[in-house]
Order: sequence, then C-alpha cells, then structure tokens
Amino acid sequence: MAFKKALSSLIIALPAVLGLVVSPRATCPDGVNSAKNAQCCSLFQVREDLLENLFDDGCGDAAHGALRLVFHDAIGIDPQAGGGGADGSIATFNATELTFHANTGIDDVLDTLGPFLQKWSHVMTPGDFIQFAGALSLSVCAGAPQVKFVMGRPAPKAASPPDLVPEPFDSVQKILARFGSVGFSPEEVVALLSSHSVAGADDVDPSIPGTPFDITPDVFDTQIFIDVQLRGTLFPGTGGNQGEVQSPVRGTMRLQSDHLLARDSATNCIWQSFANNQKKMQTEFGAAVFKLSLLGQNAAALTDCSDLIPAPPPFTGSPSFPPSLSHTDVEQACATAAFPNLPTQPGPPLVVPPIPQADDS
Ligand code: HEM
Repeated sequence: MAFKKALSSLIIALPAVLGLVVSPRATCPDGVNSAKNAQCCSLFQVREDLLENLFDDGCGDAAHGALRLVFHDAIGIDPQAGGGGADGSIATFNATELTFHANTGIDDVLDTLGPFLQKWSHVMTPGDFIQFAGALSLSVCAGAPQVKFVMGRPAPKAASPPDLVPEPFDSVQKILARFGSVGFSPEEVVALLSSHSVAGADDVDPSIPGTPFDITPDVFDTQIFIDVQLRGTLFPGTGGNQGEVQSPVRGTMRLQSDHLLARDSATNCIWQSFANNQKKMQTEFGAAVFKLSLLGQNAAALTDCSDLIPAPPPFTGSPSFPPSLSHTDVEQACATAAFPNLPTQPGPPLVVPPIPQADDS
C-alpha cells in the first residue's frame, strides 16, 4: 500500500523530475499568441512590425543603430549629475541630447526608429521601446545571445545631463570610471564592447560612412576581439580622425577606445579572454546589456516579457585570423596568458565592404 502510494506520487511528480513542467501562459486577446505575463500581449504587434519592417535586412544598419541607442539612452545617468538612465530621454528630449558630441549620428538612428517609436507610443513608453527594439535587434544577428527584456519604465522626465556618454578618444581610466560610477566592472565593460562586433562608424571619418569595426559586422562573433588585437597598419579613409587609430584590414576601422581597452593592463587579459570564447561572450554580454537596460529603473516594478524575444540564429563559424594575418601580427598585451593561436582564413587579403546604410534603401 505504502509502495503503491509512493509510486503514484512519483508518477504525479514525474514531469517535474524530468523537467517537463511548463509554466502556465496567458492566452492573448488576439487568440493567437500567448505570453508568460498577460501585460506583454500588446507587444506581439510591435514585435511583428519591427521584425518585418525595421529589421527586415537582418543584422544590418537599422539593427546596429537600435543596439547603439540602447547604450546611449541608458548610460545617461550619474550618481552626482543625475539623469534617468534607460528612460527614453534620448528620444523624447532629443533636442537637448543630440547636441552632445558623443551622440553624433544618433539623429540618423532616431530618423529610422523614431517613426516606429511614435507609431507604438500608445502601447509602450519611449524607454521600453528603445530597450525592446535593442533586444529584438540582437535576435536578427547570428551568434547573439537571447537577451532578456522587461517593460514598465515610466515616461522620461528630463534630458540626460551632458558628458555622460563615453567618447572613442577617452582614456581607459576615464571609460572605466564612467561605467564604474553606475555599477559596471571592467569585465562587464569589455563584455559590453562585444556590441562592436555588429557595428561600424558613420561619423568618425565622415568620408566613409558605414565602415565596420571588424570583418564580420553582420555576425555577433568574437572577431572584434581578434581584429582589434592585431597590429594596425592602415586607415580605411582619410586617417587622423579623432578617436580613430590604424586597423589591420582594409575597409575596417578601429576605435582608439577599443584599441586601448585591448592593451591596457586593467583590461587586456579580459579582452583576450573573449577572443576564442563565443559562449563567454554571449553569456557576459547578455547579462551586461540587460543590466544596462535597468539603469535608473526600479527593476521590481517591471514585468518580464523576455519570452517575446526570439532566439537569434546560431553562430556557425569558428574564431580565426583574417586572410594573410596570423599569430605573428598579434600585439600581445596580456602578461599572464598568450593570445590563442587561431587558424588563418584562406584567400587573399580582405577588403571589407561598407555596411549598407538604412537610408540608402
Ligand atoms: C567605451 C564605450 C564606447 C565607446 C567609446 C563607443 C564608441 C562608438 C563610436 C565612436 C561609434 C561610431 C559612431 C559613428 O561614427 O557612427 C560606435 C558605434 C556603435 N556602438 Fe559603441 N561605443 C562604446 C560602447 C558601446 C556599447 C556599450 C554598445 C552597446 C551595448 C555600443 C554599441 C555600438 C553599436 C551597435 C555601434 C554601431 C552603430 C551603427 O552602426 O549604426 N557601443 N560606438
């Protein structure tokens, strides 16, 4: 009898033992979708619109811009100077925040995203929209983590104070201090710079808009950590621009800040640790970018809508040196471990094409 009872309770508990318990989901009023939290149901229509009409060219200029916007909105907070963090102030108070030098080029991003933000303003606040668009932008980049998204940020109250967004010509010390003041460790700062794997510059050298930071700007891979550690030999355009140093591959640009973070003793071993480790990059970037999305917000008051963020396509390549370059081109900076010896991609030296601009289409 006791055995029978034990057996029946085991059978009842079996789904839990096997990890098969599915938490209940709310069926949405559209009768089609379901979400863990019913409040998230209104976002399905926004998601569909953004994926079909904004990020329809995949991990390109619009997706890159949406990710940059996540950062430039969120970092606008400081324990002394104030600011609301990830509150959407960069959109609502753009007349002020776009005058900040570090926000150069954000006008183009807002030109592209702004109409969608306005269209859905009855569903989401600007702060939620920017973080939602950023999380969705990563879902179209192969190799990116599936980042979390929470909603419920109040409308922004004021513009961010000036001088809070790091510049590419800032020192490592200044960059780490800025991030440190809002709770980010050097490890988290370097992890956040994985974002430059799906990025390029329009305005550092305005003569060559859309110049990528690594040889694979449409894939969220560790190539940025490899390319930036290689000896710089050329400028992709006019050269001598503020915040730019020489890069190793024709058609790519290196930011001075990335260059220094890869070489400074405070961060060089961290930088190197990502070069051959896609999993580490995904995990640490995913956590750090979510933390960014909470800056200035009361996390306990926000609703988890992470189940609306699709899984990005997987990364199928493997870390390697660009064609014609090898371990001998590495500027070894970390004193305690050698840079990984990776295979060299076959073929002649690359000329990486510019990223097609959203306003070209
Ligand atoms: C030390 C911190 C950082 C500095 C100095 C920096 C600097 C820059 C600069 C100068 C550009 C090129 C802008 C242009 O000329 O068009 C850029 C692009 C970009 N940055 Fe950063 N960045 C930093 C951190 C971040 C973080 C934390 C993120 C995201 C989490 C991010 C995401 C991006 C993206 C996605 C682009 C490409 C935008 C596009 O192609 O339209 N950056 N960054």
